[in-house]
Amino acid sequence: MTDHRPTAVIVLAAGEGTRMKSARPKVLHTIGGRSLLGHALAAAQGLHPAHLAVVVRHERDRVAEHVTQVCPEAVVADQDEIKGTGRATECGLDQLPADLGGTVLVTYGDVPLLETESLHAMVVAHETSGSAVTVMTAHVSDPTGYGRVLRDELGQVVGIVEQKDATPQQRAITEINSGIYAFDGTLLREALARVGTDNAQGEKYLTDVVGVAHGLGRPVNAFVLDDLWQTEGVNDRVQLAGLGAELNRRIVERHMRAGVTVVDPATTWIDAQVSIGQDATILPNTQLLGATTIGADATIGPDTTLTDMDIRDGATVIRTHGSLSVIREGATVGPFAYLRPNSDLGPKGKIGTFVETKNATIGEGSKVPHLTYVGDATIGVGSNIGASSVFVNYDGVNKSHTTIGDHCRLGSDNMYVAPLTIGDGVYSGAGTVLRKNVPPGSLAINVSPQRNLEGWVLEKRAGTAAADAASAAIRAQEPGDDSGSVEGSVEGSDPR
Ligand code: UD1
Ligand code: CA
Repeated sequence: MTDHRPTAVIVLAAGEGTRMKSARPKVLHTIGGRSLLGHALAAAQGLHPAHLAVVVRHERDRVAEHVTQVCPEAVVADQDEIKGTGRATECGLDQLPADLGGTVLVTYGDVPLLETESLHAMVVAHETSGSAVTVMTAHVSDPTGYGRVLRDELGQVVGIVEQKDATPQQRAITEINSGIYAFDGTLLREALARVGTDNAQGEKYLTDVVGVAHGLGRPVNAFVLDDLWQTEGVNDRVQLAGLGAELNRRIVERHMRAGVTVVDPATTWIDAQVSIGQDATILPNTQLLGATTIGADATIGPDTTLTDMDIRDGATVIRTHGSLSVIREGATVGPFAYLRPNSDLGPKGKIGTFVETKNATIGEGSKVPHLTYVGDATIGVGSNIGASSVFVNYDGVNKSHTTIGDHCRLGSDNMYVAPLTIGDGVYSGAGTVLRKNVPPGSLAINVSPQRNLEGWVLEKRAGTAAADAASAAIRAQEPGDDSGSVEGSVEGSDPR
């Protein structure tokens, strides 16, 4: 797309969006992991225009800050108190070089599905036909609310009339103005200077440029886009959800066509910036959000939400909620795992069932299989963390780190009280509370002999089901009663 690069794209985003009924500016509402304005800017950026301007007014500072974040090369232009799309465009032009020639596009910040390819096709049509104005139009069954495209008997576009200014005959026209245009930059400036506010809304209409250009004898053409979704704007939250669902449908389809298996497209949500490798499988009820990347041959889901995650080739992530973490080649996660930011699971490693991790690096082949919290930790390669363990990282004031070496075999129900360092090849007993560093090759245990207070339940809990069961078991063991020696019968049936 290096040929037919427009000189400038002006994105209009000054409107209020009252029907959203929101404290948040309309263009900052999101679908597919991006603001509406972010989608409009991404489509414009794809054309590599020499200049990109965004016109703001309502909630000016919030919108301007967002533009700086998502598209630093864009110029922010403030619209003054004069209303209308024509005035907005003029304010955008004012922030661009005065001698701006070539093709200038105008798009809307609240039209999120418009694609770079469509804009590019419009620019090509505009420039190859030598048009002064090209307006993107669509044929719709219900044109209510839109500007109608006026054509003469030869089919030539001669103007646009707004719904509120239209005659009943004009209102019957079903070709509508999408609000997306390509202009000759010089003509645009000249024509806007001639446009007034003498209309039903008292606004300076950009649509009037079409009639002015035609009146000056300059060629005006329509670029009809058949894909109606692309020109649809968001005015309320019903449309937000509708366009969000359609965007998702398109994204999911794109991945399937590129070689990803999506078992249930209807319950799979994938944000615009997500990338997925070939032969990955996405199971039902899965959301892949933000800047998540999925490697080839990975299996994700069902019932999994991943935000800004980096999942490498061949990994498996089942019923998991994770963000800002790395799962390396061939590793497995879940079911029922919670990965908080900065978790890093090594190749072929395992984070198993009911495991929570945070700021934890787990080496190649190491396993945290069951019921465990790993926070602020580094675990070497080939180590195993016993079930039901806690990395005790917080003393109520400070967070501390635990380091575990390679090839350790650590027991179930261990408490790793940080700061703590456990050397390579260490074993630990079940239920160990580790408060001291452990040198390589040691067995760590808390020696605290078990005491059995025989008869305690019979005496202290007489009459309970526990006491009754215990009495029966004790009676059965008494000498002379051979009605059921458990030990004996087991041994008797064992040929070894
Ligand atoms: C506009 C068109 C109409 C077209 C419709 C398509 C005009 C006069 N009418 O109507 O022909 O069918 O879009 O959706 O252009 N904006 C500003 N500053 C303003 C007013 C609007 O930046 O002073 C921005 C809005 O933020 C929005 C866009 O321009 O992104 C369109 O504004 P909106 O008020 O929705 O225009 P419509 O009246 O719907
Ligand atoms: Ca609108």
